[in-house]
Formats: sequence, structure tokens, C-alpha cells
Amino acid sequence: MSQHDEHHFVSAYDDGSRIDTTDRQTNITPETIAEMRQIVARYPEPRSALLPMLHLVQSVDGRISDAGVNACADILGISTAQVNGVATFYTMYKRRPAGEHHIGVCTTTLCAVMGGDVLLAQMKDKLGIDEDETTPDGKFSLERLECNAACDFAPVMMVNWEFMDCMTPEKANELIDKLAAGKEVRSTRGARLTSWKQAERVLAGFPDGLADEGPTAGPASLEGLRVAREHGWRAPKAPSVPQIEEGGSK
Ligand code: FES
Repeated sequence: MSQHDEHHFVSAYDDGSRIDTTDRQTNITPETIAEMRQIVARYPEPRSALLPMLHLVQSVDGRISDAGVNACADILGISTAQVNGVATFYTMYKRRPAGEHHIGVCTTTLCAVMGGDVLLAQMKDKLGIDEDETTPDGKFSLERLECNAACDFAPVMMVNWEFMDCMTPEKANELIDKLAAGKEVRSTRGARLTSWKQAERVLAGFPDGLADEGPTAGPASLEGLRVAREHGWRAPKAPSVPQIEEGGSK
């Protein structure tokens, strides 16, 4: 082994874990840059704006583009390495173009018990792609999700971050067929499904006016509350906490 080999750094990640700096394609315009500055103005510390700024990048480029990374770094006065560090940490930021509709299937414990793995296998088969891939026509991308905190509606799928509760293989197939045909589809909680890019724009802090469509909590989540009301149960009073006076003494 040469001295060079001894010190060769071996990454645990394949090349796919990096932002693709060779793909220079971007739809970022001066308007996008102005919107990034609007986001920054909402925070006392400019760098706190990075997460929504990255969502805005995805809303125009369909992924975290190299141009988007550079724009965020320039505006926030931080290095591209710092932006890349954040963008590659969270799975919600995509390093390759996501589809017009991004499909997530939860396979964490309860969803798995209720059929999540079967749904994921079926979606791979139906769409002809594996996890973290996009169909060649750019219509769909697929992701295995960790618990969505919607276990009372297991097994759960998501389309463009909207919930599709209590899914079955039949319902999942029908969902994909309708989306592929461009028909209007609603989340099982009522909201109209838009596109992944539009959902990303909402996450960047630019509402599309659809946030109040559908209930905020479904019947299964409210069942405990209903039973408690029926029996007149109330939460026990919290013990009183000694107040700390200014200067540190009680
Ligand atoms: S395990 Fe799927 S939502 Fe919790």
C-alpha cells in the first residue's frame, strides 16, 4: 500500500449523496432572489432563513441545485459548504429532481404491521422505479418514509406531503392512476393535491390559499377526546411550581 492509499478518505456515502455541481440547469430568476431576500427579512438572524430558502429552491428547480446553493450562500454570507451541510442532512431536500408528484410510503412500525411494506413494494412495481428514483417522464418520484405521526391512520402514504390515510393496495393504485390522468385528487383529509413544487413553495412561506381545506385532525385522533368528554374526565391540575424571583431567589 502506498503512502497515498493509507491516507485515502473513504466516504460511507456514494456520489448520489452530494449535490450535483455538474448539473448547471436552473430556473432561478431575479424574482426568486428577491423572494429569498423576503424570506431572510422574516428572521432576526439571516441564517435562520436557510431551511425555507432551500424549499424555495426546490419549488423552482425541483431539487437542490448548485445554483440554489450558491444563491443561498451569497445572500446569507455563509459558505456553500455550510449550505450543503444542511441540504444533505435532511431527507426533505432532494439531490436529484423529484417528480411532479412525490409519493411517500411510511414503513415504520405501525404502518409496516398494517401493510406499509406491501404498499411500498406495490408502488415500486406500479411506477417501475425504486426508492429515491423518479419516473423517466418526471411524473412521479418515490420515497420510503419514517413515521409521519399519523399512526392512528396506518398505513399512511403521502403525496406532495399531503396525507393519504388508511391506504390499501387498491386505493393506492387508484390514486396513482388518477394522478397520472391529471384528474383532481384530494387528500383523505380534504385538501386538494397540487404538485410537489407548489407544496415546496408553501413550505418556503408563500401560501397558496389551500391550507384550510379539510380538517386539521381526523376522527381517530380525536377519539380519546370524545371518550374523555363523554365521561367528564379532565386532566389533573399541574402541581404549582415555585416562582423564581428576579435575582434567582424564590
Ligand atoms: S408508523 Fe406510519 S405514521 Fe407512524
